[in-house]
Amino acid sequence: MTELNKKFAVLGHPISHSLSPKIHQYFASQFGIHLDYQRIDVESKNFKKTLSDLRQEGYEGFNITLPLKNLAYEICDELSSKAQQTKSVNTISIREDKLYGDTTDGLGLVTDLITKNVSLENKKILVIGAGGASNGVMFDLISQQPQTIFLTNRTISKSHDMADYWTSLAKEKGVLLNILSSKENINFDLIINATSSSLGNGNAIFPENLKGHFWYDMMYGKQTSFLLMAEQNKAKFSDGLGMLVEQAAAAFNIWHHQKPDTKSIYQIL
Ligand code: ATR
Repeated sequence: MTELNKKFAVLGHPISHSLSPKIHQYFASQFGIHLDYQRIDVESKNFKKTLSDLRQEGYEGFNITLPLKNLAYEICDELSSKAQQTKSVNTISIREDKLYGDTTDGLGLVTDLITKNVSLENKKILVIGAGGASNGVMFDLISQQPQTIFLTNRTISKSHDMADYWTSLAKEKGVLLNILSSKENINFDLIINATSSSLGNGNAIFPENLKGHFWYDMMYGKQTSFLLMAEQNKAKFSDGLGMLVEQAAAAFNIWHHQKPDTKSIYQIL
C-alpha cells in the first residue's frame, strides 16, 4: 500500500461475504485509482464510534449495508433528498469534515432492470416487503412512472403505512399506489421481492398464485423460494447481483466522479 491509496470501506453486520471490496477495486482499476477498500464488521451499537475512529484514520467514504442503513440516515450531518425521503443511507462521503449521506440502492435496482430490458414505464409492478429494503427503492421505482405499484407484505398493516408515506410522490409522478388484495388476479409485468425472507430460517410467506412476466429478487447468491416460484411459473427472473453492482457503480461515481463500466465485472464475481 502506498500513501496515495484512498481509504474506503463497507460497514455492516455480518460483512464477511460482501463483494463490495472486489467490485470497487475492479472499478478503481479502470481509472488507475489506488484504493484501499476494507470490509469492516460493525454492530449497530458500535456504529457511531467506529465511524468516528475510521474518520480519524483518514477514510474518505463508506458503503453502508444491513443492518445500518437507517442508523446511517440518522447519524449523517447532511443528506441527499433521496436519502431523506427513503430514510436510508448506503453511501457516506466525508465532505468538509461532515458526513454526507446518499442512497444508490434504488438507482442500482432500476439501472439493472433497464440493463435487463425490463422497462417500468406504464407497467404494473408488485413490490413484496415493507421494510427498509423496499422503502429504500421506492423513490426510484416511482420516478420511473409505472402505471401502478401494488404493495404487499406478510404484515399487511406495514404496506398500508408504506402506501401512505409514498402517496404524495406517487401523485406527483402520476403513479397509482395500491395494496394487493387477495381477490385480485393480476398478471404483473414485474414482481420484486424486497423481503429478507431468504435470510431467516422460517418459510417465506408470499401471496398465493402470483403471476408475473419478470420476477426480481433483490437478494443475490441464493436459490431463493421466490426464484423457485418464478421458475415454476416459467417466468423470466433475476437475482439482485446486478443491483449490487449498479448501486456500487453509482456510489463509485459519487466518490470519484467517474462512471465505471459494469458489464465486464460478472466474470470476476
Ligand atoms: P430490510 O431492511 O431488509 O427490509 P426489515 O426492515 O426488517 O429489513 O424488513 C424485512 C421485510 O421482510 C419485512 O417486510 C418482513 O415482513 P414483516 O413486516 O411481516 O416482518 C419481510 N419478511 C421477513 N421474513 C419474511 C418471511 N419469512 N416471509 C415473508 N416476508 C418476510
